[in-house]
Amino acid sequence: MLALTAVAIVCLAVPLPHGVPMTAAALGRASRLRIVGGRRLEGVVRTSGAKNAVLPAMAAALLAPETTTLENVPAIHDTLVMAEILRALGARVEHDPARADVLQIDARDVCCHIAPSRLVTSLRASFVVMGALLGRLGRAACAPPGGDVIGQRPVDVHLAGFAALGASIGREGDKFVAQAPGGLRGTRVFLDYPSVTGTQNVLLAAVRARGTTTIVNAAAEPEVASLAEMLNRMGARIRGAGTHTIEVEGVEALHGTRHRVIPDRLEAGTFAIAAALTCGEVEIRDVRPRHLDALLCKMREIGVRVEEPDATTLLVSRAPSARLRPTQIQAVPYPGLATDLQAPMAVLLTQADGVSFVHERVYDNRFLYLAELRKFGAELVQAGSTAVITGPTRLTGASVRALDVRAGAALVLAGLAAEGETEISDVYHLDRGYEDLEGKLRGLGAIVERV
Ligand code: EPU
Repeated sequence: MLALTAVAIVCLAVPLPHGVPMTAAALGRASRLRIVGGRRLEGVVRTSGAKNAVLPAMAAALLAPETTTLENVPAIHDTLVMAEILRALGARVEHDPARADVLQIDARDVCCHIAPSRLVTSLRASFVVMGALLGRLGRAACAPPGGDVIGQRPVDVHLAGFAALGASIGREGDKFVAQAPGGLRGTRVFLDYPSVTGTQNVLLAAVRARGTTTIVNAAAEPEVASLAEMLNRMGARIRGAGTHTIEVEGVEALHGTRHRVIPDRLEAGTFAIAAALTCGEVEIRDVRPRHLDALLCKMREIGVRVEEPDATTLLVSRAPSARLRPTQIQAVPYPGLATDLQAPMAVLLTQADGVSFVHERVYDNRFLYLAELRKFGAELVQAGSTAVITGPTRLTGASVRALDVRAGAALVLAGLAAEGETEISDVYHLDRGYEDLEGKLRGLGAIVERV
């Protein structure tokens, strides 16, 4: 398995929910999106399972020498790569033949503690296998992870957490190596920064430590709470996940479970913004509105109509005559506005009547997309960690390049709102995190195709 090339890996055929084999071609690695903008989006769209929740859930399955079943698994490129990483470690990973969104992970024979670098370096979340392997086998080796180019993305918080739990940390070749032959021991672990995957990694290791671990300054994102919920169902004893202090009472063993991946709040947010931008009316189903408080609050503040007809549905609309008010937003850790919705919101603010400010507080380099947005005619300037947006501007179709998952989503949004034709290259970034984005947009009346 380790000998497979990255290209071969993305070519493995795994069924997509709509019956198309998930291959490199189906995922459109080398293709572009063509959008004819200016159409009002209307109708119903269903949110898929969350990319940032399914990947740590897949790693968590490594902790039990049994089968774990995950439901609501999105058909995206990152889950394919993660599945290959698990296979390389000795797990059997299979789609349920009857339900393409169900993934079965049999981790009985996991014995390899070395994650394959070629795969690990293609996505950030891969690094969470380290905590799971440390918990299961007492040792783990993994190269620094890859992922989007959005600023510095160190792993010092992860490694310091493992060290606090008693693991020795070293470097062998391109990999970090963590070892705890005598087992991990519970302690108080202070995280320098409430890193999302850092908290998940420490959690995955701490569930098997002797005694109690308290993680202080933990990330409170729903994807952390969801992982803890799954681990508890596997037999772990975790309290406080979803807050900044998490307590973990270590257990001797974990068992397999069945777990449903939470809806993707970032995908739902992207559709909410698309509805507002196109003066449309979109019902977003299978969503948890509470996970989107910060976004929905801002959208209402600037003049978008957002209703919550029930606990899992959002209705987002804007009348063609409704002007948007300018505002300030800041991307901060949860429950603040997600940094992943910063670029999509910036596109919406190009339509607000006046000057808006977008502050990025999580990453040091998440404004590269501004140059692409200017090609649509948007007026945006960067001043340090702030983007200043003057609106409203009439957007016109452009030829642009997706720079990462969320910057790519922002360009799709701009293309939907713009007059004329937009062509977006490097669409594979979108395929990493959005399940069937163009199919869903077409279902709402957009003219979008892969070329
Ligand atoms: N940081 C450190 N040291 C560390 C880890 C992080 O200084 O050891 C800093 C980073 O440099 C960054 C900040 O902490 O400035 C935030 O990083 P964090 O570790 O919280 O992010 P992450 O866990 O790598 C996850 C999501 C990202 C999302 C961020 C912030 C996954 C797989 N990724 O990344 O999602 O932007 O949390 O919420 O869960 C995306 O989905 O497009 C995406 C990039």
